[in-house]
Amino acid sequence: MDAVYSKLLTKVIIKAEENGPLMVEVDGKTTITLCRCGKSKTQPSCDGTHVKAGFTATSSEIKIVE
Ligand code: FES
Repeated sequence: MDAVYSKLLTKVIIKAEENGPLMVEVDGKTTITLCRCGKSKTQPSCDGTHVKAGFTATSSEIKIVE
């Protein structure tokens, strides 16, 4: 199983956007935007409601590189 993942996922970055969602990027392309404010009507995806809700949070980034 690990061998399969190592071939599929060469570079993964998870970014917590300031005052916004978690952006999951695989090989430089955003694959999914995950809600972290809890207000999205399309959970687990972000639908932009965090702006209207006034969600505030700091940004951070996790990199997983093979
Ligand atoms: S983070 Fe965008 S709707 Fe929750």
